[in-house]
Amino acid sequence: MKLRKAVITAAGWGTRFLPVTRSQPKEMLPLVDKPLIHYSVEEAIKSGFEQIIMVTSASKRAIEDYFKGSPELEKYLTNRGETDLLERMGDISGMSDYCYVLQREQKGLGDAVLTVKVVVGNEPFAVMLPDDVIDSSVPGLKQMLAVYEKYGCGVIAVTPVADEDVGRYGIIEPQKVDKGVYEVLGLVEKPEPSKAPSRLAIVGRYILTPRIFDVLKTTPPGKNGEIQLTDALNQLLKHEKLYACDLKGTRYDAGTPLGWLKANVDLALKRQDIAPEFKKYLKSLL
Ligand code: G1P
Repeated sequence: MKLRKAVITAAGWGTRFLPVTRSQPKEMLPLVDKPLIHYSVEEAIKSGFEQIIMVTSASKRAIEDYFKGSPELEKYLTNRGETDLLERMGDISGMSDYCYVLQREQKGLGDAVLTVKVVVGNEPFAVMLPDDVIDSSVPGLKQMLAVYEKYGCGVIAVTPVADEDVGRYGIIEPQKVDKGVYEVLGLVEKPEPSKAPSRLAIVGRYILTPRIFDVLKTTPPGKNGEIQLTDALNQLLKHEKLYACDLKGTRYDAGTPLGWLKANVDLALKRQDIAPEFKKYLKSLL
């Protein structure tokens, strides 16, 4: 079954980015000159998804405004003959079919996913956490779709992490089935390194079957008092298999200041209009 709907969760407080997130949604922080969330939208579209469902909160109007586009600005640039700027702006509003769902209370990722049940209905769908930016020749979700089609089950993205980072992620108990592909035997959210079943951490990309909604309805609050998608997936294993895919490419945790800075530097160095001067500057720092 062709997947059509990609859910992007963007309702969190962004506490790791305070104080800027007092008034600015974390998802709108720029990576070079596009907001974080734009990269997830592009990845979804390049992977063949037709509808983008954003889970937002009351303070995230800037996201909706961004994807709505600005006819006034377009008119202004057209009148001035600013074709380069018009091209750079792109047809963001026409790129996809967007839909917004409000998460009233921030009760965790599992609750955010449950919020979209009414829009997703009874079909498999993708979930993306925009903090996780994947820079790869084949888009991250597209790589996961290949695994989904091969095994016919839900798929999550994973990456190896260092011991000291285990407690920041959901960790899987893997059984290798192919190069970079694992059957998931269990999952635990943000474990102590000594209790973690592996060093393979969940990256914010999921391909889920609609059965997850039934499981989420009865998932109690877990780590940090939040309804955890990881806990629901662990329960789901009683009913269906789940696979994990170590994505090819570079993954940035752009939801922390350090990860965001790294992503900015790397992506700027890939830009022909910026890289030559920027490289000179970076060298001057050495
Ligand atoms: C969420 C998930 C976690 C996953 C991580 C990836 O955690 O709960 O399992 O490893 O995203 O970025 P959060 O970063 O929202 O605390």
